[in-house]
Amino acid sequence: MCTIKAIAKEFYVREDEIEYFITSNHIILKDNNKEKLVQQLLPFIEAKNNRVFSKLTKSNFSFTYRDNKILIYKDDAISFLKKIPSNSVDIIATDPAYSGMNTKLKLGKGRIVGKYSEKGTTNGKWFGEFEDSEENYINFLTECKRVLKKSTGHIYIMFDSYSLLSLGGIVRNYFDVKNLITWDKINIGMGHYYRRRHEYILFGTNGNTRKIKNRTFPDVWRFKRIHNSKYPTQKPVEVFQAMIHASANDNFTVCDPFLGSGSSIIAAIKNNCKFIGCDISDKSMEISKNRIRQYLNNNTDILQLKTSAVDDKIFWE
Ligand SMILES: C[S@@+](CC[C@H](N)C(=O)[O-])C[C@H]1O[C@@H](n2cnc3c(N)ncnc32)[C@H](O)[C@@H]1O
Repeated sequence: MCTIKAIAKEFYVREDEIEYFITSNHIILKDNNKEKLVQQLLPFIEAKNNRVFSKLTKSNFSFTYRDNKILIYKDDAISFLKKIPSNSVDIIATDPAYSGMNTKLKLGKGRIVGKYSEKGTTNGKWFGEFEDSEENYINFLTECKRVLKKSTGHIYIMFDSYSLLSLGGIVRNYFDVKNLITWDKINIGMGHYYRRRHEYILFGTNGNTRKIKNRTFPDVWRFKRIHNSKYPTQKPVEVFQAMIHASANDNFTVCDPFLGSGSSIIAAIKNNCKFIGCDISDKSMEISKNRIRQYLNNNTDILQLKTSAVDDKIFWE
C-alpha cells in the first residue's frame, strides 16, 4: 500500500515491520489516511531508537562510549535536520548564532559577539551567523518539529535579548512553550547601555505532556560565563547539563545543530545520552572533536577545567 511505503520512507522503518505491527495489533486502516495511520503507528515508530543512527552515516566524527553513539557533521543546521528521520529525536538543546544582535542593534561602532579578527579563521571570522529572518527561522522550526518525537520530545532554544523579541514568539506556532528560563551569567559582559548579564532559554514540548524530572527546578539558572574561552560564545557545560538532566532518561538521543565548541556534547555524555549534531564551521569541528576525544579518554574537559556553578549545590543535585 502506497501509504505504508511513504511512512516507511519518512520515518526510516521497514515496510514489513510496519505491516507486522498493523497485523499483530489488529489495526484497521481507515480511508488510507496517512495522518491517522501515523498516529496509530507512533508507539512502534518512536520506540525504534536506532533509526537516526542507521540513517545518518559517514559522519565527520563518530564515537561510541558505553552503549551510546556520538555523531557530528560539518553542515548547515537546516540541511542537517532534513537528513534526520521524522519523530526520532528525544531532545533538541541548542544555541544558534543569531545575526540580529550584530547586524540590527545599533550600538557603538563595531560588532558585539565574538573575536572576529582571530588568525587562522575564514575571512578573519570564527563563524558565520544564522540569518535571523522570520522565513529562515520558520524553516528551522519546521524541521525541529518534524524530527522531534511527538509523544515525548522536549526542545530548548537559547536566545539573546534581541532575537528573543524578534523570533521568540514564532516558537509558539510550533511548540508548546512551557518556560522562559533566564541564565544568569553572574558577571556583567559588554553593553553600551545596560551591561548584559543574562540570556534566555525557551523550553517547549512537541505537543505532548511529558514532564521534566523534578518539579523543584527553578527558571533562573546561575552559572558563571566562560572567560577567555577557546571558542567565542562558548557556553558553560552546566547550562546544557541542566536542560538535558531535566528532560532526559539514559540513552535518549540529544540533538544540537549549532555545536560551537561542543558544550552540549559533553553535557549529553555526562547524562549518558546519545548525541547527534552539526556546525557550519571547520573550527567548531576541530575543537569539538578534540574536546570529546580528550574527555572520553582522560575524563578531562579541556575547554572548561572548572565548574561554572556558583551555588554550594547545583539545583539538580
Ligand atoms: C553561539 S555558537 C554555539 C556555541 C555553543 N553552544 C558552545 O557552547 O560552544 C553558534 C554556532 O552556530 C554555528 N552556525 C552559524 N550558522 C550556522 C548554520 N547555518 N548552520 C549550522 N551552524 C551554524 C556557528 O559556527 C557557531 O559555532
